Amino acid sequence: DGDVYKYYADGEWKKSSSGKAVAIINPTTRKTQYKVQACTQEEVNKAMESAKTAQKSWAKTPLWKRAELLHKASAILKEHRAPVAECLVKEIAKPAKDAASEVVRSGDLVSYCAEEGVRILGEGKFLVSDSFPGNERTKYCLTSKIPLGVILAIPPFNYPVNLAVSKIAPALIAGNSLVLKPPTQGAVSALHMVHCFHLAGFPKGLISCVTGKGSEIGDFLTMHPGVNCISFTGGDTGIAISKKAGMIPLQMELGGKDACIVLEDADLDLVAANIIKGGFSYSGQRCTAVKVVLVMESVADVLVEKVKAKVAELTVGAPEDDCDITPVVSESSANFIEGLVKDAKEKGATFCQEYKRDGNLIWPLLLDNIRPDMRIAWEEPFGPVLPVIRINSIEEGINHCNASNFGLQGCVFTKDVNKAILISDAMETGTVQINSAPARGPDHFPFQGLKDSGIGSQGITNSINMMTKIKSTVINLP
Ligand code: G3P
Repeated sequence: DGDVYKYYADGEWKKSSSGKAVAIINPTTRKTQYKVQACTQEEVNKAMESAKTAQKSWAKTPLWKRAELLHKASAILKEHRAPVAECLVKEIAKPAKDAASEVVRSGDLVSYCAEEGVRILGEGKFLVSDSFPGNERTKYCLTSKIPLGVILAIPPFNYPVNLAVSKIAPALIAGNSLVLKPPTQGAVSALHMVHCFHLAGFPKGLISCVTGKGSEIGDFLTMHPGVNCISFTGGDTGIAISKKAGMIPLQMELGGKDACIVLEDADLDLVAANIIKGGFSYSGQRCTAVKVVLVMESVADVLVEKVKAKVAELTVGAPEDDCDITPVVSESSANFIEGLVKDAKEKGATFCQEYKRDGNLIWPLLLDNIRPDMRIAWEEPFGPVLPVIRINSIEEGINHCNASNFGLQGCVFTKDVNKAILISDAMETGTVQINSAPARGPDHFPFQGLKDSGIGSQGITNSINMMTKIKSTVINLP
């Protein structure tokens, strides 16, 4: 069946023996755009087996050679920018320019990872025993970083390429093999990206990409005894995975409710520009999107007017036309967003624009005078709808931020750097941005969430370290 994209295992493109396919719906047309193989559990077993075998010799491949292959994959991925970006446009309705920059950013991430890897993995430690009481200098301890084995990578729909390579590249440079389970929306973009790694000439079985329904192979993958580490980005599924996974390292990033705290002395034009960028880019479908504005009452009217004026300038339409606001990923997502909007309406929120929806396309919406009894004060819409809560003290803002189950990022706008640092210290989030919107990048910065937002820390260096284990060899002198 030539219409169904093949999955990738053991260095080959394969059809599933299930004879079944999973349809990928284009969010804009709401019609089937692509089909991918519905892999079986047996096929997952085979991919796991070849990953295990391939990893053994990969771990012995010199670090500089591993880096060389990653640099090659990076260059090929950048050359393939256009076809990969086109898939992103069709599968997840990412605006054309953002889709292209996701691919370039991914290529850069892969080569940075190769460079960082040769340096941090090229160093170990040397310890002597006589610093600890009771010991003579008779023991020398040498430590190095060894790979974990097989990494299972599960990226989300919103960055099917970038959040896949942010797991693949650290895994590979550190000597691991990898099984990738792409999101359904984004699976073809991921397969194209994997094709670039295939062209670079990595050994057979080192990377595989199994597609299929989460209900059939999801738990099977995450509970598979052959998996030595799971790196997951996505929603609540991550919490379920962490309860079921075995005694293996987990790296999880599970969304956020990033607050933007605005003080009276803030540069309100800068704030408005960052709220637009932070709240509405990729139609709010980013874990790090600004998801609630907490603004001091005395400047709230002015700020809301400024943001309103900028919302009016946002273009709304097809991702092919590079519109700012494009259809959200699925009908169920659009329905969920609509539910939050209706709840806010019933409870008396101020609508700065009229609510408008056509299929999966939702027009950007700023909701003022949001109160804590409204669902949108706490829940992530993952859409172009942004709530504003007016506060009367900094404490009120910090309390709202910290009452959330999430703790990914947050931001504070003020000209008073001392206040900003104190607020940053008080906010229970993995990162606080001062005078800019939350963002994961640059991709070598540490990226982590507290509470329900995640486990462990990402970013190139942290991911490489996380995908290794320390090995010690102790030389005992007579
Ligand atoms: O939503 C995924 C999260 O990693 C966001 O990344 O680059 O949009 O801040 P970014």
